[in-house]
Amino acid sequence: MGMEFRQKIILKEAMSYEAIMGLYTRSKTFINCILKQDSKGLFFITNEESIFSKGDVVIVYSVDSFNIAEILDANGLFNEHFYADQDVFETQDIWPDEALFIDHMIPSSDNRILEICSGNGRVTSHLCKDGNTVVGLDNCLESISLAQKHQTDLLSYVHADAFKLPFEKDCFDISCCFENSLGMFLYDEETIVQNLIEVSKQKVIFGLRQVNDSTQFIHYYASQNGYLEFGKVFSHDSFEVILNNLNESYRNCIAAINYYPGLARPWGGEQFFVVLDLV
Ligand SMILES: C[S@@+](CC[C@H](N)C(=O)[O-])C[C@H]1O[C@@H](n2cnc3c(N)ncnc32)[C@H](O)[C@@H]1O
Repeated sequence: MGMEFRQKIILKEAMSYEAIMGLYTRSKTFINCILKQDSKGLFFITNEESIFSKGDVVIVYSVDSFNIAEILDANGLFNEHFYADQDVFETQDIWPDEALFIDHMIPSSDNRILEICSGNGRVTSHLCKDGNTVVGLDNCLESISLAQKHQTDLLSYVHADAFKLPFEKDCFDISCCFENSLGMFLYDEETIVQNLIEVSKQKVIFGLRQVNDSTQFIHYYASQNGYLEFGKVFSHDSFEVILNNLNESYRNCIAAINYYPGLARPWGGEQFFVVLDLV
């Protein structure tokens, strides 16, 4: 049996960063990352300067960025342990750039809005504003079950796959996909964009992540409970490549593409928002 892509290890002796990398990673070409647990039990990403002592608890990720199934498995683990965590739910909020964007770009009432990849509903409830009817959709049962505890007359959550949206054509005025969730689809973003165009009458909105280092096409985020989430990152150009690859009938539905800047995130990279106006 080969090594797992995620291993939790209690160090039997002090080791250097390089020694751990050498012993527990599967290939130098993989995405390799060592997380170390601090005295409060939280995990943090380490680097060459980090010190590892006997008894330290470390988690080593060694993921093949070309193995889509492996990345999806790693993200599945992350989803069930992060978005479904009650503490995460209680402590997280929308980012100031998301609040500003929603304030300016989302009508205040009487619209039907879909958010796919809604996770635990971190952004979803904010889309209701003064009276929009909002549906959050996610394929992670644990996160949706948590979100469903907070449903209201205007806000509901559906457990479903964004590849097979359970909605009629033009069912929503606006559909959204925030916080780089499009990056979770790795090599089939076109289907997701087409699905959103199919169910939307007016606008399709994305919050995407860009990083300055163009060698990094997959970026990861570490949760303090020791999991990594992997996602493709974007630029205006790479997003437009996706739009150019859409089937002609969907491409013809796009009347305008508008970009709006967002803010940096603590885990690296910067948000930008894209609004597709539909004909
Ligand atoms: C980056 S997280 C964003 C969660 C939430 N929007 C937020 O900003 O906190 C991506 C979400 O996409 C969901 N997801 C991944 N693949 C999916 C699919 N095929 N269908 C629906 N949701 C999916 C995951 O379960 C996860 O909740």
